[in-house]
Amino acid sequence: MCGIVGILGTYEVSPVILEALRRLEYRGYDSAGIATVSDGQLDRRRAVGKLVNLSDHLVHQPLPGRSGIGHTRWATHGKPTETNAHPHRAGPVAVVHNGIIENFAELRSELTARNYGAESETDTETIALLCQSFLDGGATPVEAVQRTLARLEGAFALVFLFDGQSDLMIAARKGSPLAIAHNGTEAFVGSDAIALAPLADRLIYLEEGDWAVLSREGFTIFDEAGAEVDRPETRIAEAAGRVDKGGHRHFMAKEIHEQPAVIDACLSHYLDGDTVRLREGEIDFSGVDRIVMVACGTASYACHVAKYWFEQIARVPVEVDVASEFRYREPPLSDRTLAIFVSQSGETADTLAALRYASGKAQILSIVNVDTSSIARESDVALPILAGVEIGVASTKAFTCQLTVLALLALKAGADRGTLTAEDGKAHVEALRKMPALVSQALAVEDRIEDIARSLAEARDVLFLGRGAMYPLALEGALKLKEISYIHAEGYASGELKHGPIALVDESVPIIVLAPRDHLFGKTVSNMQEVMARGGRVVLISDGDGLAAESAAWRTVEMPRAPAIWAPILYAVPAQMLAYHTAIAKGTDADQPRNLAKSVTVE
Ligand code: F6R
Repeated sequence: MCGIVGILGTYEVSPVILEALRRLEYRGYDSAGIATVSDGQLDRRRAVGKLVNLSDHLVHQPLPGRSGIGHTRWATHGKPTETNAHPHRAGPVAVVHNGIIENFAELRSELTARNYGAESETDTETIALLCQSFLDGGATPVEAVQRTLARLEGAFALVFLFDGQSDLMIAARKGSPLAIAHNGTEAFVGSDAIALAPLADRLIYLEEGDWAVLSREGFTIFDEAGAEVDRPETRIAEAAGRVDKGGHRHFMAKEIHEQPAVIDACLSHYLDGDTVRLREGEIDFSGVDRIVMVACGTASYACHVAKYWFEQIARVPVEVDVASEFRYREPPLSDRTLAIFVSQSGETADTLAALRYASGKAQILSIVNVDTSSIARESDVALPILAGVEIGVASTKAFTCQLTVLALLALKAGADRGTLTAEDGKAHVEALRKMPALVSQALAVEDRIEDIARSLAEARDVLFLGRGAMYPLALEGALKLKEISYIHAEGYASGELKHGPIALVDESVPIIVLAPRDHLFGKTVSNMQEVMARGGRVVLISDGDGLAAESAAWRTVEMPRAPAIWAPILYAVPAQMLAYHTAIAKGTDADQPRNLAKSVTVE
């Protein structure tokens, strides 16, 4: 959600900032902009839409300067117009911002009354105006920023640049992540390691309330109270710099195809022979009497699948809630409650707020892809999913890695609680170890899926059906399809269809049935017959020979056979490929679907 970069360089920075913004574009692509200081003069270029428009603009109107800040926007306050694009400028101050200033209306009317009128509809411009007002009152840039920060309520990551100051950049963080780096002669600020990876090999994550004053000579970090502080340096993982499509047309395709390897890496990390070892800290499930799982979007569907696993294997009651509801519901929690927060980015604002609600009331376990994230840092135990950087806005490999970690946790829970025998545990581990190979086989149905996707692209509505742990997968399949192809899709529990949604069924509505041959298969086939009797065009995704003849479905996709309990990990793959190829057939942007952004750091 909004990408930020800042550089005090020893070279022309605009092209380098543009390149860094390219790596951050998955965070937002409504508009983009860069401001620089050249010969002491602050100047900026902004453009609506994807970064390529800013890049074109810079070809026609280059932006010189060795100091600069850049931004790629996901609009919160105000439409995606050039006037609303960052950097925002007020007199001698330019600022880029990720987050939301909650008291901006109050600040804005106060500033307007003092003749500091805004041009844009954004909350960010208010920050620049406020800072300008302090400078006009005689404050130095550092004092002006400090006073500005003291007035801001809400969440922000900010970088300031000043007219007449070519060796000064000020960064601040509250609620939204921000990192700084320095190589002895140059200073950098970025939203994450991906932004800074090719520029520096070590970075420092600012902590809540921190702000940093940077020059080419060095930097100083202050905490919220203004005291100078030291923060630990982190080596930037080599992989963070490798943001390429690996020969695929889209990041999403690459990430779908990486799944066998990343699931394998995840299993190896947590399995020691037949035993699940968490390494990052122990959780003893024998003292747990209830699990609550909290997440948003795709991550919440991973939790819904895991509910079936925890309840079946470990006989422990599980509640699942979306984070935006959980926190306001104020659910009772106790020290025997294990609260599990699942998040790819580890920065999702609602999930983080829900975690903070649970903190101190329950044991906090998080499952994250970014192990330096706020959610990881604020948990009692944080388990990485080791999926590697995920750039496609639609989550794919993170979902199957979340499922993998949750599957292993369910086995650990069963072992700790004495509900899973050593022999059964061993059999489950053996089955899970086969998943990477099975996922590879599932990827081989891509041609078949592509063919079905061409028909699906014509549809206005699509239904997904699943039973048991495949029901949340039906929800996930529908989410994936709607977010990247813009086709309306809904997921239902197969048995629920005749309680209402069947009224939607006619020849124009494809129905995707996710149904491995388990003990519920016969029931799902009956539900399919009910749909087909009403003209519904069923795409059956299942395993076993003679699927087409036996089911009389409109189309079938034959999957490798997997142990029923772990089938959701496998069946995620055709659901992802179906969404991807439908988006390709429709000509939508699979990696950067409209209105969305990765890492939702606002509520
Ligand atoms: C959908 C998708 C989103 C995220 C959700 C939570 O494909 O990616 O629904 O799953 O925004 O994000 P994280 O996992 O970063 O908390």
